[in-house]
Parts: sequence; structure tokens; C-alpha cells
Amino acid sequence: MSENETRNFLKALRRMTRQVSLYPEGHPLTDEAGTILESTTLALLGHEPEAVLAINEDSFYLDRSLLPHTSLEHNGILRELQARAINSISLKNPVSPGDLFDMSAFIAGVSDDIPAGGTIRFNENPLFRTSLDNSAMNSLRRSYAGGLDALRAATTRMSNDASFDMINVVKSVQGLLSTSLDHSSATLLLTTVKSHDEYTFYHSLNLCIMSLALGKFIGLGDDQLVLIGAGAALHDIGKTRVPASILNHPGRLSADQWKEMKTHPQEGATAIMAAGGDAHEVTATIALEHHARYDGSGYPGNGDFPSAPHAYSALVSVIDVYDSITTRRPYRRAGTPSEALDVVLRGSGTDFHPDMVRAFIEMMGIYPPGSLLRLDTGEIAMVTSRPAGNFSELDAVVAVTASGEKIEPEPLRLEVDRVVGQLLPDEAGVDPATLLGQDGVQHQVFD
Ligand SMILES: [Fe+2]
Repeated sequence: MSENETRNFLKALRRMTRQVSLYPEGHPLTDEAGTILESTTLALLGHEPEAVLAINEDSFYLDRSLLPHTSLEHNGILRELQARAINSISLKNPVSPGDLFDMSAFIAGVSDDIPAGGTIRFNENPLFRTSLDNSAMNSLRRSYAGGLDALRAATTRMSNDASFDMINVVKSVQGLLSTSLDHSSATLLLTTVKSHDEYTFYHSLNLCIMSLALGKFIGLGDDQLVLIGAGAALHDIGKTRVPASILNHPGRLSADQWKEMKTHPQEGATAIMAAGGDAHEVTATIALEHHARYDGSGYPGNGDFPSAPHAYSALVSVIDVYDSITTRRPYRRAGTPSEALDVVLRGSGTDFHPDMVRAFIEMMGIYPPGSLLRLDTGEIAMVTSRPAGNFSELDAVVAVTASGEKIEPEPLRLEVDRVVGQLLPDEAGVDPATLLGQDGVQHQVFD
């Protein structure tokens, strides 16, 4: 049983709850969704006699292990379950199709009958409450999940009718702003969460969070920060107007395809102005200029940019490049935070505004939170934060021993001199999002 199987199960459950609320039992679409739900349930259980999926404080747990990615990705179904007062679902192998149908109908609210067959039980194994007060982490995670939902909704609306609702995006940015800035290390750690399936949403949200952090770092006020955060979150919304065949095109684009691709900043800016009005001129400017470069190169160029882009666009574009490099894409491997910082530094004064580069590197440090470091002892540690005003040490947790054994994160104050290399999550076999859910890490980033 793994997190991946749980995600497939929840995706199928979500689909089934939609179908049962629209069509009666026996309808071909309901049957099809039911078949998919059955097979994902089988895959989730494997050879185990039972699986318990539980909810505790806005996060999913499978057999008491936190599922960090699932909790962010499937926030919608999590809230539907909470609305029906379901805190845990116990699935007993083999689960009957009738119980799966009843469960879906109950969650969808079309029936108040709980599964009668005995292979699915609600609230039989509620989670123990941890002694740790992790409400700060939970509200941060909730804001992040809410931001993903708002972006999904805006993107769907944009694809369907070329417009979207600005208010929900702004509300999510305000939520992120209020939850994130008191806990900057935890927030930066959260931006190391990536998704291959929903690259654009996670990237846009990470860009939004880091832009808020950098804006705050250089002394901007909340009103300006919200405009910047919205611009960062929506910077690529114009891509919904570019054909999928071009967006997903493997390899080099032809001249015509490239021309079409380059329309997305203008498309995005136009949609933001239509949705947000004059109050969102700055937000629209960021979308328009996020590929414009400090030296006047980039696009949309052709003489429209006699001078360098707006300072806020310059801020967002530094982070856009940083976050893109640190994310694995189908056509290239991810870079480590240090490699990404290096690219940013080399572009200072040409691609990027030197002041923004300096501020960004000052904020991130050479090993930003979430960096996975190989130590001189052979252990692997993840950086959690940098002690204020201290450039020679880091706060970190050891996650893998010298002999390669994964352990409960062990906090340590680390001298930077002890770092001998930097690893990617895949290479280290360590998932920063999972570590983020563990007590040792939370004590460090919140205490
Ligand atoms: Fe873009």
C-alpha cells in the first residue's frame, strides 16, 4: 500500500461521488466509475486484510502514516468527507461493490444509509490525537491546499470561457499571506513540494509563496504583496489559451508553435484585467512581463519594452526560473537548490535585476530550507532553517544514516563546512514533504 494507490483510490472515489449524484444506479457512466473505483480499491488493499484511511486535522493518513501529497491534492474530497462527519474509512479485503456504491452515495449526500455489507466501516478507527500542537503546520497546509483548489478552478473556467473569478484567487493569496509570513522557514519548506501531474498549479503556488516571502523580505506592505502574490499565482494563466498540442510538445517547437506559445503573457494579462479591473493592473503587468528580461530581451519584446520590466515582474521572474529549475520535468532532471541559485546569480544584470537577485540569495541562503545535504560523516540531512544573522551554521535534521538507513528526523545545528555535496530527493530517497509532517522537523520550524 502506498501513497500513490491512495491517490488513485481517492480520484476514483471523487469521480464516483459525482456520478452517483447525477445519474441513477445502473447508468453506464455510474457503472464505469464504479468499475474504476473497484479496481483502485483492490490495488490499494493488495494482499492486506484491511486498510484504514483516516483524516486528522485536514490531513489524510493511511494506516497512521501521514500522506502529505494526497492531503494537498485531494483537499476537495477531504472536505466532502469532513462535511459528512467521516473521520476514517476502514476497508476490509475483499470490499464488496455494493458497499463501494453505498459509500459513494453517502459521501455524495444522495443517501443517508451507510454501507450495510460490513466491508466498509466509517469512524471505526479514528486517529489518535498527537500530543504535538501542530496547528500552525495545519493551517499552512490548509492554505496551500486552498490555493491549489483556487488555481484549478480558475484554470478550468479560463479554458472553458476565457475568464475566471479573481476574488477566489485573491482570497487564497491573502490566506497564504496571513499563514505563511510568521513561519518563513516552514513556508519555504512547503515550496519544495512538487507534483508531476499538476506541475503548473504547484509551480504557480510555490512561485506565489516565494514571491510573498521575498516581497516581505524587501519591505513591501500587505496590499502590494497581495498584488504580487496574485500575479505570481496567475502568471501562466494565459497558457490555457495555447493549444495543448503545443504545451505538451516534446522537443523543440517550430517557429509557428513558438510564436503561439509567446502569446501566453499577453493572453494572461488581458484575462486578469477583465477579471480584476484597474485594481489589478500590477497583477496583470506581472503576467505580461514574467518572461521579459532586465536587459530588454525576452518576450513579449519587439520594442514594447524600452526599459527594464516593472520591479515586481523582475522579482517574480527570478523566482520563476529558480522554481522551474528545481522541479523535474518530462524533458529534464531537476536541479538542486544550489544549481538553481547559481543560474540566477549568473543571470544577474542581464536576465535578472541585480537587486532582486541579491535579495533573493540573501533570503534563501546558499542552502535553502528543503536542501538535502551529504555531510562529511556520510549522513544525509535536510535543511530546515537558517539561524538569524548566522551564515556559518544551519538548522537541519539528519534523515539518513551513513550506512544508508532512513531514520526518524534527528535535529542538529550544522556547520556549513561539514557539507560535502547536495542531493535531489530521488537520489537521497528522502521526500521533504513527508519529513515536513514529522515531529522533529515541526519542532524546529515552529518553535
Ligand atoms: Fe510563462
